[in-house]
Amino acid sequence: MKFAVFGNPIEQSRSPDIHHGFAKQFDLQISYERMLVPRHQFNQHVQAFFADPEAVGINVTLPFKEDAYKLVDMLDESAKHVGAVNTIFRIDDQLVGYNTDGLGLVDDLVQQKLLLPGANVLLLGAGGAAKGALHSLITTKTNHIHVVNRTIDKAESIIHMSSDETNHTGLSASCYQSIPTMPFDLVINATSLSLQGVAPVLPKFIWDNVEGVYDMVYGSEPTIFMQKAAAKGVAHISDGLGMLVYQAAEAFRIWTGLEPNSEQILTHLRQRLQKQQ
Ligand code: ATR
Repeated sequence: MKFAVFGNPIEQSRSPDIHHGFAKQFDLQISYERMLVPRHQFNQHVQAFFADPEAVGINVTLPFKEDAYKLVDMLDESAKHVGAVNTIFRIDDQLVGYNTDGLGLVDDLVQQKLLLPGANVLLLGAGGAAKGALHSLITTKTNHIHVVNRTIDKAESIIHMSSDETNHTGLSASCYQSIPTMPFDLVINATSLSLQGVAPVLPKFIWDNVEGVYDMVYGSEPTIFMQKAAAKGVAHISDGLGMLVYQAAEAFRIWTGLEPNSEQILTHLRQRLQKQQ
């Protein structure tokens, strides 16, 4: 069975380690490679990969998730609403596109008990990552989800898209200056600010109540936003390493029908990251 992750850049990707780890749990022989794809050659490279009858599926990372969305023959519900594909599975001769990012986030939040029924969630950002997150968050038993974004139109647009697909009544959107004064339990950073080494600026009242902060980014050091949350006394702070492992677990399940042990791989990855400090 042959798999790969396609992206640019790609050398930083942990996906081969994660999927080899999953395969080992079941004594499965797989190959899983990193594929560095030139910007405008995504389609050719994917087609060449699937020309091999051993090819089962691929993961897709930045900047190709939207190209993958356009390329596939069929879309799973998870990818349809998000407009981006991170997992492709060949079924018969059709390429089917899925998006497992949102599910990966929710699985990690639930596992860490960061997302409890009735929670008020503040979601920062309204780009691709936030859209995927919102699509899965609305399926959970949250009380309210408020999306905040620098560009208000994008925040409004993602909540309208989501209200069309759910009965969830507690959805709202604003820019950073107009966040409603409600007690938020959990703040999720889905902006790209942590990658720029910057923390989003939130009104003071947020820190009075918030019990959990989740940053979708991960690294050997806590992000600036996580450090800020710690300084404000937030009890439970997490980076996005678990999301990475859980989204991979979902892809592995789609491809093989097997349910891997994510916790084992997550512990291993965390230890390796800490060694890099
Ligand atoms: P991704 O696919 O990682 O979500 P994206 O679609 O480019 O990347 O989205 C980036 C997100 O980070 C957006 O919500 C963006 O806000 P805008 O929609 O207003 O651009 C947010 N972001 C990036 N730089 C920011 C900044 N300096 N201040 C506030 N938000 C920022």
